[in-house]
Amino acid sequence: MTARREIYAGVMSGTSLDGIDAVIADFAPANAAACALRGATHIAFPSALRDELLALQVSGADEIVRAARAANALADLYVHALRSVCLASGIAAHDVVAAGVHGQTVRHRPQEGWTLQINNPARVAEHAYMTVVADFRARDIAAGGQGAPLVPAFHAALFASPDRHRVIANIGGIANITDLPARGQVCGFDTGPGNVLLDLWCARHRGTPFDAGGAWAASGSVATSLLDALLAEPYFSAAPPKSTGRDLFNASWLDRNLDTFGWHGRPEDVQATLTALTSRTLADAIRAHATGAIEVLICGGGARNATLLRMLAVELPGTRVAPTDDEGVASDHVEALAFAWLAREALAGRPGNLSAVTGARGPRVLGAVYPR
Ligand SMILES: Nc1ncnc2c1ncn2[C@@H]1O[C@H](COP(=O)(O)OP(=O)(O)OP(=O)(O)O)[C@@H](O)[C@H]1O
Ligand SMILES: [Mg+2]
Repeated sequence: MTARREIYAGVMSGTSLDGIDAVIADFAPANAAACALRGATHIAFPSALRDELLALQVSGADEIVRAARAANALADLYVHALRSVCLASGIAAHDVVAAGVHGQTVRHRPQEGWTLQINNPARVAEHAYMTVVADFRARDIAAGGQGAPLVPAFHAALFASPDRHRVIANIGGIANITDLPARGQVCGFDTGPGNVLLDLWCARHRGTPFDAGGAWAASGSVATSLLDALLAEPYFSAAPPKSTGRDLFNASWLDRNLDTFGWHGRPEDVQATLTALTSRTLADAIRAHATGAIEVLICGGGARNATLLRMLAVELPGTRVAPTDDEGVASDHVEALAFAWLAREALAGRPGNLSAVTGARGPRVLGAVYPR
């Protein structure tokens, strides 16, 4: 008799604001790690929605109404993503047990006891004909945690090895690591900017949303004194648990630092330096908190930045630096898969956070359920 499979969907739209990643995954009930990707889709944000989501990252006029409207527009796009991914996978909506839908972070202030992911999960449940699990971060914050990162428990379920000390580095808008020692406690935290500064500098000077392959950065030179000035940001030396977002790492942060430094140089050298900043802060975090790791597996859009991966390999000699694709899991889909998995944990009444990662008082069941 073949084991019964459980089909879940995951929908992620992260800090890069590039768009929506949706997956359908098939889990084997007996083995949390045995998850098979049945289909995936990426939907880029229409530019008007992207501009509004970016504008909503800071206080502005009429923002409650604007946020509610943006949340509905997002929910409609999540529904579209869920329909497309079902079609691509040959799965009917009613065969999906639940969809984990992260929502779009517009503020993240765990130090004040809150975080805000705009979304309209009731609208998604209504129009996608699926049970939706949403608002994953709030409970961990209520329990004194950072509410982030939430992916380490899934990284552990998927990638932990009994004989290899691994680190998973997710390079989205923000970068985060999960330390997976062969034995001992899983930990992890946000290391700082992933692609967010690279994208904004590239958009400003090249008019493209990202530095494809890191080619533009490769044409410049790292300005070491500027890199040192950027590394003085207190976030980098703060002890974990810690998490961050566009609240800190944004255009004002970069412009203020360039001004204070008195930068007058070529934009490609800034791109090279920002790429080095992402790589150095990841490497410093791994050296300090994942000492002895022999493999660093990369996921998220940053896995496509060859210059970044090359810099990371130079920072970590003797360590294997490779995309998760080399371990059979597409680097583009790990985060959306994590939210499919978190939805499954929520419905099973199992905790989704790791308190050693977030600093919460203990394990908590995450998410609010909107039945189909
Ligand atoms: N071909 C490429 N070359 C270089 N960078 C790329 C390429 N493709 C994507 N990226 C980068 O990856 C980013 C998107 O990554 P991803 O979707 O993992 O981030 P995210 O949406 O912030 O997710 P999360 O917050 O969940 O980690 C883009 O904004 C871009 O910077
Ligand atoms: Mg994305």
